[in-house]
Amino acid sequence: MEPTVEFSIKSGAPQAGRNGCLVVGVFEPRKLSGAAASLDRAAKGYLSGVVHRGDMQGKLGTTLLLHSVPNVAAERVLLVGLGREAVFRDKQYREAVAAAIRALNASGAEEASLHLTELMVGRRDAAWKVAHAVTVARECAYRFTRMKSGSEEPEPALRRLTLSVNDRSALRRATAGLEQGLAVAHGMSLAKDLGNLPPNVCTPSYLADQARELAKHYRMKVQVLEREDMEKLGMGALLSVARGSAQPPKFITLEYRAGPKKAKPIALVGKGITFDTGGISLKPAAEMDEMKFDMCGAASVLGTLKAVGEMRLPVNVVGVIPTTENMPGGRATKPGDIVKSLSGQTVEILNTDAEGRLILCDALTYVERYQPAAVIDIATLTGACVIALGHVATGLFANDDALARELLNAGETAYDRAWHLPLWDDYQEQLKSNFADFANIGGRPAGAVTAACFLARFTNKYLWAHLDIAGIAWKSGKEKGATGRPVPLLTQFLIGRAGRK
Ligand code: BES
Ligand code: MN
Ligand code: ZN
Repeated sequence: MEPTVEFSIKSGAPQAGRNGCLVVGVFEPRKLSGAAASLDRAAKGYLSGVVHRGDMQGKLGTTLLLHSVPNVAAERVLLVGLGREAVFRDKQYREAVAAAIRALNASGAEEASLHLTELMVGRRDAAWKVAHAVTVARECAYRFTRMKSGSEEPEPALRRLTLSVNDRSALRRATAGLEQGLAVAHGMSLAKDLGNLPPNVCTPSYLADQARELAKHYRMKVQVLEREDMEKLGMGALLSVARGSAQPPKFITLEYRAGPKKAKPIALVGKGITFDTGGISLKPAAEMDEMKFDMCGAASVLGTLKAVGEMRLPVNVVGVIPTTENMPGGRATKPGDIVKSLSGQTVEILNTDAEGRLILCDALTYVERYQPAAVIDIATLTGACVIALGHVATGLFANDDALARELLNAGETAYDRAWHLPLWDDYQEQLKSNFADFANIGGRPAGAVTAACFLARFTNKYLWAHLDIAGIAWKSGKEKGATGRPVPLLTQFLIGRAGRK
């Protein structure tokens, strides 16, 4: 576990204890922010001197650590470059905070007073600035060391971080922001841990245990269906994916009901493929290890429920996780096999690597029983979505424009953005099958859309949105690891549904 920093909020002039650090911003070119200017007055022009000698131009993401600044009780002052004031918005704010945290962690400061939270960030209020500072700080501290036998890096000294707001009237809202930022960070941390765990540890049974754990902690109702239960129900699509695996599949439901008794729940359905080999339509070897992240949809459902539980958000939410491995084998599903889904519709499986939609479609039929106010599925569904949107935006599809709008807005607020893609019937033709009701693939063109169109055939009974997170759920290369997205988006959406901001 990474060492935890304790957060608090205050208003008033820059101040920090002896072994502390004051963190203030500098705009480009060489322009002190409000807090920096007030420190500069106390220090008789020491900071403006440093800046005008050219040692801190204010370029976004740069930092300069000063020691023993005259007339300042704290041992250190950290100058943080903010970039040009005219374009200082959400992204720049988060980058500046991240740079500050990294510099603090590299220093010997045990406590720090962060004044970047006083900056004007478009029209964002103090609660937003505090929430994002906390989440960013926790993200900078995240490490996944559980599978390493020794610790590699020394732990940062930082123990206390005070976030400063402009005036006393903002203290209450900022405290709510602090709680929210921490809850989101903890939800993201859980989602990251589950994603990063190796596929021989994070199996369907492991996810079921995690769900039980959450249920115990946050008073949720948990249910885990076994293979025989799924057979009895008729989940032929889901079970066809599990056929090649020695690990038993699980169908997990978690009910969190803290909203009005009669209020219909929001259902979150997460793809839980704990390893995707492609099955008989085997994937190439290169980077196949990354298919351990194919359960990041499921992880985001658990992470979001953790955040919601921690905030005691007054909403009703049902988390649903169909989970299995997708493996080749003597009993595995073959291209050409036809299976009957829980909905009664038959599917010709032309490619066993298009397995996510097969486990999701049965879950999407199953959730009808909750009479949900809306259903959102979250899935690392298509490589095509990565080609379309890269590693920036989630692909968003919906059968209702108001729901789509609500999710897009939540994504903007949470800085965890999605982009609306079409779900037009014109694309349905690509799923035609000569032998079953339809096929599980629609050819190369618009692969993310045809996958969504497949799911749309199972979601006529309720308002529904689909989030394709294939491009954003994890990073590859040197920084390989789960991102914890889209926990911020989902949590923000539920905060909105709870009538909070
Ligand atoms: N889990 C993959 C999607 C994926 C691939 C996510 C690469 C991130 C990176 C999914 O199960 C899959 O294999 N989809 C196929 C569908 C195709 C066979 C229609 C794909 O995208 O290639
Ligand atoms: Mn696949
Ligand atoms: Zn997959």
